[in-house]
Amino acid sequence: MTEQAAELHLPVMYNEVLAYLQPKNGRVYADATLGLGGHTEAVLKASAPNGRVIGFEWDNEAAILAAGRLQPFGDRVTIIHASYADMAVELIGLGVESVDGILADLGVSSLQLDRPERGFSFRKDAPVDMRMNPESAIDAAAILAGVTENELADIFYHYGEERQARRIAAHLCKARASCRIRTTRQLADLVAEAVPRRFHPEKIHVATRVFQALRIAVNRELDNLVRLLTDGPDFLRPGAAFCIISFHSLEDRIVKQAFRRDGRLRPGKPVRPTEEEVATNPRARSATLRCAVRV
Ligand SMILES: C[S@@+](CC[C@H](N)C(=O)[O-])C[C@H]1O[C@@H](n2cnc3c(N)ncnc32)[C@H](O)[C@@H]1O
Repeated sequence: MTEQAAELHLPVMYNEVLAYLQPKNGRVYADATLGLGGHTEAVLKASAPNGRVIGFEWDNEAAILAAGRLQPFGDRVTIIHASYADMAVELIGLGVESVDGILADLGVSSLQLDRPERGFSFRKDAPVDMRMNPESAIDAAAILAGVTENELADIFYHYGEERQARRIAAHLCKARASCRIRTTRQLADLVAEAVPRRFHPEKIHVATRVFQALRIAVNRELDNLVRLLTDGPDFLRPGAAFCIISFHSLEDRIVKQAFRRDGRLRPGKPVRPTEEEVATNPRARSATLRCAVRV
């Protein structure tokens, strides 16, 4: 089990995160996106023998795998099956008034991307789901079936920065009138049909931005991020680092602006993964790490 979790997802910008968080014995850290526990394990090792991590994870499957991996650390780790958007209320519930660092490694884990049945990827045919928390009520198929053409276009435009948003939304709405859009392949094929060949991007699949946009909408990712950015600094002790790894420009912009506006924080420069890291872990390619220190 331990090895399985470690093999399923390589933590991004591992050394850089440790350099900013500087984990120390006896301190307490919050990992907003525990995933398979790679970053948390690093923080626990670096803060031995008594450092603690409180890890938030929405996805039960990931939380169970992480729990197996982190078992050797005993009660130094607490796993909360809740959204990091509720970090404030959860920390207060645990009696934790402040922490010595917060990390959020946004986006999907390799576990989610690589399990076709989770419906995040168009590379395999599966129900178009995309819920990070499989217990939440609304999946991507429900959004595709239930919102108006204009709302669909807005989702693609705002969350996917997709220039062909109106065209794609019109085509999907025409298609759904005769047949519900149920699978990832069906969706990817419809997007490819909607966009004239000359507008197909060279480097990415033509449906990439639509999939990103739907994922953000299903999981309310930007709302969650804004709540984390608003509440997080209240819990940071002076000198503690707030580290966020984002994977697309929308998230990065929100983090950059929030760090700049927040008088409680002193933001540093953005950091990008090394070429060596990208070569061994292609998922790191689009990562940007931003860290701010609580003044
Ligand atoms: C990129 S992975 C984190 C990987 C982790 N750092 C590691 O080393 O294994 C992001 C994780 O955040 C989780 N997640 C996304 N949104 C969340 C939310 N609002 N609350 C809690 N967990 C969330 C996802 O389910 C996913 O497992």
